[in-house]
Amino acid sequence: MKDEPLVLGIESTAHTFGVGVATPSRVLASADYSYQPKSGGIHPREAAEHHSRVAGRALAEALREAGVSVEDVDAVAVALGPGMGPCLRVGATLARYLAVRYAKPLVPVNHAVAHVEIARFTTGFEDPLVVYIAGGNTIITTFVEGRYRVFGETLDIPLGNCLDTFAREVGLGFPGTPKVEELAAKGSKLLELPYVVKGQDLQFSGLLTKALRLVREGERLEDVCYSLVETAYSMLVEVAERALALTGKREVTLTGGVARSRLLCEKLEKMAELHGAVFKPVEPRFAGDNGAMIAYTGALAYASGVTIRVEDSRIRPMWRLDQVDVPWRAGGFRKP
Ligand code: FE2
Repeated sequence: MKDEPLVLGIESTAHTFGVGVATPSRVLASADYSYQPKSGGIHPREAAEHHSRVAGRALAEALREAGVSVEDVDAVAVALGPGMGPCLRVGATLARYLAVRYAKPLVPVNHAVAHVEIARFTTGFEDPLVVYIAGGNTIITTFVEGRYRVFGETLDIPLGNCLDTFAREVGLGFPGTPKVEELAAKGSKLLELPYVVKGQDLQFSGLLTKALRLVREGERLEDVCYSLVETAYSMLVEVAERALALTGKREVTLTGGVARSRLLCEKLEKMAELHGAVFKPVEPRFAGDNGAMIAYTGALAYASGVTIRVEDSRIRPMWRLDQVDVPWRAGGFRKP
């Protein structure tokens, strides 16, 4: 008899197709394949075609890495959203097939909740304030009364998208954040850029437009990169700081693709220290999208009795993390 449920998880919300295997206390495998757009941003249909091509390989690789077969797993978890419809459909189709073919329960996972849970898992934090920054999301969240509540988010483009688009437009390639930060380290002149914080929410599109204009007008790229990251990260830290002061949490973590940013980590760490809180980012290999975070969150959810009927498992491109009950945390609850 196994003590803990073993769960297979499938991620396909955006550019990455991943399959992971996990229990509520262990990550056993993660096989992840990312689609690289030839030019421009993610083309949803091209990404979906990529996912279809690599799905079988990712599944086989994850099972091999974990040393298990599909028969061995107790449930199949899948990220049903938020994300791009064509991409989500690939993961959902594979998950439904496995659930039916092998008679396994299906577990719905919210991709944003999974970024939060994998950060809690790899940091060992119990109850952190979570700054979730990626190409597709910018959210400051923490657990309050049964759900992850939003304490600030972007009203237009996500921060990761702002940096990636800037990098692409000025010819730095993808992913843009590390390259922008590299150049920013060589910048020295702080140029004035729109600093847009509205209450607890953020806007980055004006910042992007102005930064691109400054490059066109001949400002040094290093100085524009420096000003861009200083402005954007300061906006974010301001909102995170108010959320921390309001909720009184003692831990702060950073998760999502931009969690590998050394500069943002430094800023958040300083801010946390000022409030007597500790800061630690998600483990770098689980910062970007991956199958393990879906398997792990699926394992937590499944252990709390969360499943969905195959016929109800529609994709949810706009699924917000604050719509998800989190019964696996103390104070969590499930609607009857
Ligand atoms: Fe993500």
